[in-house]
Amino acid sequence: MFDFEKILNLPSPLEAIHEPVFEEMALKVFIKRDDLIHPQISGNKWRKLKFNLLEAERKNFKKLITFGGAHSNHLYAVAAIGKYFGFDTRGIIRGDELNTSSSITLQFADRCGMKLHFVSREAYRDKSRLLDIYAKDDHYVLPEGGTNALSLAGVGEMYDEIRSQLGYEPDYIFCPVGSGGTIAGLINTTNRPQIMGICVLKNAQYLENKIIELIKNKENLFDKNFKIFWDKHHGGYAKKTKELLSFISDFEEKHSIRLEYVYSGKMFFAFYELLRSEIKNNSTVVLIHTGGLR
Ligand SMILES: Cc1ncc(COP(=O)(O)O)c(C=O)c1O
Repeated sequence: MFDFEKILNLPSPLEAIHEPVFEEMALKVFIKRDDLIHPQISGNKWRKLKFNLLEAERKNFKKLITFGGAHSNHLYAVAAIGKYFGFDTRGIIRGDELNTSSSITLQFADRCGMKLHFVSREAYRDKSRLLDIYAKDDHYVLPEGGTNALSLAGVGEMYDEIRSQLGYEPDYIFCPVGSGGTIAGLINTTNRPQIMGICVLKNAQYLENKIIELIKNKENLFDKNFKIFWDKHHGGYAKKTKELLSFISDFEEKHSIRLEYVYSGKMFFAFYELLRSEIKNNSTVVLIHTGGLR
């Protein structure tokens, strides 16, 4: 059995932050620092991959294959996992105009020994054909973004850490929504806090059905204990506004915590925006820092 967690900082810290407005509203606000789990296997990547890796190990797979774009955090983490835990890794990359030096992510993956296959955007859509060509039967397949049924259990462990670090269940949890695996894992695990998802993609309402499909504990859906905000994306995936960038640098200066603009920056920005309209006084809020910093 791999001792995966030997090199990881787990449980990740739960840190309180303070602001005059929190005091005024009698709020306790904490950040779950999953960004500190590991410099390269960061944040929700570890949470979503853990049970997939245990499954790969249980089934005796020595090779992993996955998919991603030139800047994919998931691809970066899988390449690092290959290096640290001795899996052979392959990545199928969206874009046949790219090469191993096209981005920091691809350069890193290449240095970790990941075999990279560059395919056209059209070919990229047909994942099962690509798997027939590149995976054969000897690769364990990790889905794009790392989200599948097994990834929910890892997110559930993160929630268990929060509950035992606080000694009680929080009233609200905020997380970014990209492929939907993280929020699905939270909803699957608890129906106590209100779970607030900040979607970082534009026009991505189709994700709601995908999230509901992923959830095994359907009874947790009856109370509709989650809300997803679809208009907090600042123009779309990986788009940024001046306001967002200045929020990120002010936040870092005030709290000494780095955010990035693709996921955590948008989520934290939205939290401050929604504070007075969505959060009841006298409550406890946990913001999940899902990493993504390099
Ligand atoms: C750093 C980071 N935060 C948040 C997310 C969004 O999580 P999910 O795709 O599970 O919705 C991602 C993408 O997976 C990510 O890379």
